Parts: sequence; structure tokens; C-alpha cells
Amino acid sequence: MIEQTEALDRANRYIEQNRHRVNPKYRDQYHLMAPVGWINDPNGAVYYHGAYHLFYQYYPYASNWGPMHWGHARSKDLVHWEDLPVALAPDQAYDRDGCFSGSAIVHHDRLYLLYTGHVVENGQTFQTQCLAVSDDGIHFVKSRHNPVIAGELLGDHGSIHDFRDPKVFAHDGSFYAVAATKTTDNRGRILLFKSVDLQHWDFFSTLLTGTAEQGIMWECPDFFHLDGYDVLLMSPIQIPRQGLAFRNVSSTMACIGQMDWTTGELTVQTTQEIDYGLDFYAPQTLVDEQGRRIMIAWMQMWNRTMPTHELDHGWAGAMTLPRELRVKEGRLIQKPVSLVYGQLEYLSGSENIDVSTRPVVFRNLVGDNTYMQIVCDLAEAASFTIQFAKTGQQALTLRYVTQTEEFHLSRVGFGYPITGDELQPLNSRAVRVPLVNDQLILEIFRDASAIEVFINGQETMTATFYEIEKGHDIVFSAEGHAKIGSFETGRVRV
Ligand code: FRU
Repeated sequence: MIEQTEALDRANRYIEQNRHRVNPKYRDQYHLMAPVGWINDPNGAVYYHGAYHLFYQYYPYASNWGPMHWGHARSKDLVHWEDLPVALAPDQAYDRDGCFSGSAIVHHDRLYLLYTGHVVENGQTFQTQCLAVSDDGIHFVKSRHNPVIAGELLGDHGSIHDFRDPKVFAHDGSFYAVAATKTTDNRGRILLFKSVDLQHWDFFSTLLTGTAEQGIMWECPDFFHLDGYDVLLMSPIQIPRQGLAFRNVSSTMACIGQMDWTTGELTVQTTQEIDYGLDFYAPQTLVDEQGRRIMIAWMQMWNRTMPTHELDHGWAGAMTLPRELRVKEGRLIQKPVSLVYGQLEYLSGSENIDVSTRPVVFRNLVGDNTYMQIVCDLAEAASFTIQFAKTGQQALTLRYVTQTEEFHLSRVGFGYPITGDELQPLNSRAVRVPLVNDQLILEIFRDASAIEVFINGQETMTATFYEIEKGHDIVFSAEGHAKIGSFETGRVRV
């Protein structure tokens, strides 16, 4: 095992010396962020020694992407997070240009991290899978066998230039890891490797290969059995639009079906985009002691401008709220993990609000850490609109259109502008969600610069936004006659 020293010490010193310099304006209150600097993917989500641990892709030294470290935080309730020292730094020959995404597993009471060693040589990237281990869940040593999954095992099953993001799990008395790669004709592919001790690995199978319509590379796979189904989550790059789905340049997808453990192949029965918002990527799951399958994603998007970076606020990126997953009739369903409700403080409740020709305005209702639940009958409405955080003409807008059964989220013209690699700037999206007995049921979690909407328990939309001036009003309006049966507000305890 190899002790990490200087690069880690330097990162931890830098964080301590600079964390107070971060501009607080858009800092979320209950979503996990790094103390300073840039974060992307959640890594190593695991329940260990009585707490939830989450690691993340981290560049502490600037608010843009750089050589990746693994940041680390710990939580008892999945809402309040304690920052821990950086767990991994790029300091070995096999990971010198970055400790890329990966996962964690507990074995014989020790915590193992399986991550990607990223190396750049003459402009070409080389990626292998590496191991680090800890006895206390805080200090990690890298294995002297690293890389533990390298080119010889990959063979011609994929490309060593794009071979990353191992997600390790136990199955039937062995360890397995799914890892992302691509074919020579640029299709995504997920490979499966097998081990008895986490140190020595064998190639097991090609779990799934994408079609030409499913993106040029798949990142960050996760694979698990849930409610009688085998579920592969991953993040395809440049998957073309399919109706309302896959509008961002980088998307997320669930492939649900049945695994054949004799061949190691997944037969996919259904696919779906995981979240229809603007900022949701690279989700990863863990199972806790209650057996809950909990998913957390990076609440940002590649190839977009990041206001907190452009404004020199010293940080960029946050994680979504943890969501509990279920599969019902072949579809992945998400709900806020029950622990989150334990951290809610009830503020106000109203019943039977009629919204018709005149908008209904609630003043000063929205703080940075607002929770809302709205149940609205739309039997007599053509549309129902919620303007959120409204100041003057600007608002974040949520809107349901009855005829098309589409729920829309828009940050167009609202807050600090965000542009991206899409052909047209993408600042609004829609998802189809049928009403249930004419009812629209929304759960909304709002933080300083993010919103997560759970729509009729069926779909989710997640987006960031950066108000220029804080708005605290909420305005309901309708075409026709919408009847809000109940409207409750609360606050997430921070
Ligand atoms: C996904 C990703 C991973 C990679 C990491 C690098 O967002 O591109 O595939 O391991 O980010 O930071």
C-alpha cells in the first residue's frame, strides 16, 4: 500500500486557507457542495460505520475543472453534511492526471474505493481502474497492485482511452464492477469485471453495448437489482433527442430489464431519461442499512457556462437531494428519501384556493430553503402556472398544460444567463406526466440556486438558477379554473 502525502496535504491546507473566501450569494443551504472550488460527479456513495459517506470529483484550487481529487463528506441524515479531508489526490504514475470517478464498498469492516487512474501522454488519455483502502473511512492508502484493472483485462472489449467510472458491488459471494467504455465506432459500452478480494480482477462480460442512437460514450454506470428488475443507470454523451427526452448534450438514462448471470448480459426491456431537468448528471446509488436504494446526482451540466465561476465566486457545483428509488411496472420512480422529511419544519398551509382569471399572489413566502407541496385539481383548467421567486417581470416558471399533459420548467429570461453547447440555449424543458384523477401533485424543494420538482410521484425535474435580485413571492395563475386543494409550505432545517 502506498501512503499519499504531499498532494493531499497541499489540497487540505489550501481548502482551510481559502474556504472563507467563497462568495455566499448562491451557496445552497441544504444541498451538498464542496467548501471551495469545483465539484462534479458523486463518487463512492456508501453507508459505513453508522453514517452516509459521499465522495466527489473535486478540484479545490479553482471553480473550474482541473486534475481530479476525491472530496469527501459524511452525513447522518442525508441533509446535513460534515466536510472531511480530501480522500484521494493525483500523486502516482497511474493517476497523475486525475483520480476520476468511482465507487466504494465495505469489506471486512474496511472501506475500499475503486476509481479511475487518468493519465495523459502526448495528448492521449489512458484510463485504468485503481484501488485505495481505509480502516477509519477518512484516510486512504492506494494499493501497491494498482492499477488493478488495466489494459490486459480490457483487451479489445473497449478502448483504454475511454475506460472509466467503476461501480463495485457484491453479488452471490463475489465482487463485481461495471465500468464504462466505448466501441471503435463510438457507441457506449458497459463492461463487467469480477473479483474475489477486490485486488485481483478478471474480465467477466460485456453487460450492454449501445446502439448508434444512444450516444457516443456512456459514463458513470451503476448496476443493481431492485423490485424484481435489473437496473443499469448511466450517463450517455450526445444521445439524440427522443421526443421530450434527452435534450441536454449530456443526459442520464436508466436501462431496465433482466440480467442473465450465466452470460453476464443484460436484456433491456425499457429505457427512460432519469430526470427531465437542466442540471442532473452522473447519478450514483448506495444501499443503506434499511435496504433503501438511494441515488444522488451532480446538480450541474457539462458544456454550460457556470455563473458562480464566471462571477468569480470561488466555487461551482452541488449535489441533488438524495432520492429513494423503486421500480414499478418497469419504470424507475424517485421520491425524496424519507430522512429528508425528518428535517422539514412546517410553516403554513392553505386549502381550497381558486385560481381563475386573476392570479393569486403569496408575498414573501419563498426563502432559500423552501419546501412546498401543492395539490391542484385541473379538471376545468387548460393550464396552471406557478411563478416562483418572482421579482418584477422575472420568475422561474413551472407550468402544466392539460391538453398535452406536459409539465414545463423554465428559467428563460430569469437570473444570470446560462448558455451551453446546445444549438439553441437550453433553459426550459418539458416532461409528459398524466394527471391522477385530474390532480397535479407537486413537491418542490428550493435552495439558494437550485430547484428539484417531483411531479405526481412519476417524474422529476432538477435545475439551477442564479437570481440577480432575490425574489420571495409566488404567483399562481391559470387558464380556465384551477382549484388548489391544498398548499403547504415548509422549510428544510439548516
Ligand atoms: C462524468 C465524468 C466521468 C469522469 C469524471 C471526470 O461527469 O466525465 O466519466 O470520470 O467526470 O471528472
